[in-house]
Amino acid sequence: MSHDVQYGTAVASVYDSFISPSMLTSDAVERLRPHVTDARVLEIGVGTGRIAVPVAEIAAEVVGVDNSRPMLEEFRSKGVPGNVVLVEADFRRPLPVTGRFDAAYATMGSLACVRSREELVAALTHVRMALKPGGSLSMEYYATSTYRPLVAQHTLTMPTPHRAGGTTTFTVTLDDGDVLTMHTRIDEDDAPPVEFAEQILLIERAEVEACLAEAGFAVAHVDPVEGFQPYDWYTALNEGMQ
Ligand SMILES: C[S@@+](CC[C@H](N)C(=O)[O-])C[C@H]1O[C@@H](n2cnc3c(N)ncnc32)[C@H](O)[C@@H]1O
Repeated sequence: MSHDVQYGTAVASVYDSFISPSMLTSDAVERLRPHVTDARVLEIGVGTGRIAVPVAEIAAEVVGVDNSRPMLEEFRSKGVPGNVVLVEADFRRPLPVTGRFDAAYATMGSLACVRSREELVAALTHVRMALKPGGSLSMEYYATSTYRPLVAQHTLTMPTPHRAGGTTTFTVTLDDGDVLTMHTRIDEDDAPPVEFAEQILLIERAEVEACLAEAGFAVAHVDPVEGFQPYDWYTALNEGMQ
């Protein structure tokens, strides 16, 4: 099995200036608040700390796992809150974290960065094993109702949010194994283009729920996406004793 790193230096270099500003953090933090307040919390795919920083203000401790050194370096360069610990690790392997967590979360579809349903179940199992019995997983996962039309459209060019004059072009394809590849190219007048690609497993809501169940979670709640937003929101509880 390959354990490649998807998020390289190109995406890390633009994440906070181009990608984060188009995604409001407040909605995610409000949804997480009941689970993370005063809790020991695990973030899967912590990235540059977009959500970990506000969560750290209300949680007792946040351990953020990510396999991308460039993303973690971006986070470190901004200053990591005192109650946040960063761990460079791949969630497709058992997580090298100690002690059990009250809650885990994965925003912006981090856990969808897998190549098959089996890999998703393995990743979810690794998260569950780090949780206390009854501990919660909150997860944003790519909504097929938003991404299937993008696959049909194939290429979409739009003004880059918050950057006057710039454009962003997405090229989206889906293979036979339901792996969606989204190639992004950001063009600005005065700079060379920035290009990167992400691959995620695009499966129906019922299949995501089935993967959670196979990993030992009881699905407590699913909030389907509204309109043309990217993610459904799942809340699941660790059913197992270990
Ligand atoms: C879309 S970003 C989300 C970052 C952050 N959660 C947020 O909401 O801004 C996805 C993150 O998942 C991380 N990631 C992807 N695959 C991973 C893997 N196999 N193991 C650990 N982290 C992974 C990426 O490096 C990236 O930082």
